[in-house]
Amino acid sequence: MSYNLLKGKKGIIFGALDPNSIAWKTAERVHEEGGEFVLTNAPIAMRMGQIDALAEKTGSQIIPADATSIEDLENLVTKSMEILGGKIDFVLHSIGMSVNVRKGRPYTDQNYDWTQKGTDVSAMSFHKVMQTLYKNDAMNEWGSIVALSYMAAQRVFPDYNDMADNKAYLESIARSFGFFFGRDKNVRVNTISQSPTPTTAGQGVKGFDGFIAYADKMSPLGNATALDCANYTITLFSDLTKRVTLQNLYNDGGFSNMGVSDYVMDAFVDSQDEK
Ligand SMILES: NC(=O)c1ccc[n+]([C@@H]2O[C@H](COP(=O)([O-])OP(=O)(O)OC[C@H]3O[C@@H](n4cnc5c(N)ncnc54)[C@H](O)[C@@H]3O)[C@@H](O)[C@H]2O)c1
Repeated sequence: MSYNLLKGKKGIIFGALDPNSIAWKTAERVHEEGGEFVLTNAPIAMRMGQIDALAEKTGSQIIPADATSIEDLENLVTKSMEILGGKIDFVLHSIGMSVNVRKGRPYTDQNYDWTQKGTDVSAMSFHKVMQTLYKNDAMNEWGSIVALSYMAAQRVFPDYNDMADNKAYLESIARSFGFFFGRDKNVRVNTISQSPTPTTAGQGVKGFDGFIAYADKMSPLGNATALDCANYTITLFSDLTKRVTLQNLYNDGGFSNMGVSDYVMDAFVDSQDEK
């Protein structure tokens, strides 16, 4: 269903790799709601992914940018304003990657070059994106910037590895930069803490199937899907949430406030009985 919530709004969407990507679903929903945008991803992802199909479907242009490169981000912001014919109303940062996770290196045996790379891609890139927008005065008043997080920023999920620290850093950057963006430009900055979701990045985490099933059974509303996340993001881009800022907002079916559910307790008791 479409509500025309984003009619006349223009934005930049980072991180659509394939149809499972949360950013892909968000781009489709923004398009349905009347928003226009530029799609961007790392140059290497352009070759591996299917972003051309999304661009065609949504009538968007693609500008490659490594989100860790200030030069690429400068080019992206300048060209996006040219293409869209003015300043930006919304930005989605949907980027995450840990080399330690990818290569199966446990938290207690990090390769710190990889750790640094993951921090740069997953968290510092958010600062770089916002600093580039801020310095270029590229955001319209009452614009909205959203990044995607996970609750390993607050609670321990051992196999989430160094991504937990990256998400804690990401959420802190949202608050810190959100202050300056709010005070100086009336722009809001938030993170959405999303349920585990079957995407390329999600499935890189060890034991992901167990992870996702457990979260689903712990959550009174079940796991939020990528489409649920897209829908929530649309509301944060719309004028209906103008004074929501500096927040980490849970889109997780209630998981973050649960201790235990009857389903999980029953499964645990049954497994104890079998011993
Ligand atoms: N999938 C989950 O379970 C889950 C849960 C909570 C939060 N998230 C977060 O959602 C966001 C999107 O991930 P997703 O699950 O849709 O997976 P995804 O793999 O589809 O998206 C990750 C994107 O990051 C991009 N990327 C990686 N390095 C980059 C770089 N240097 N410059 C620009 N882009 C780069 C990739 O090309 C890819 O498009 C991430 O921040 C992720 O941590 C995912």
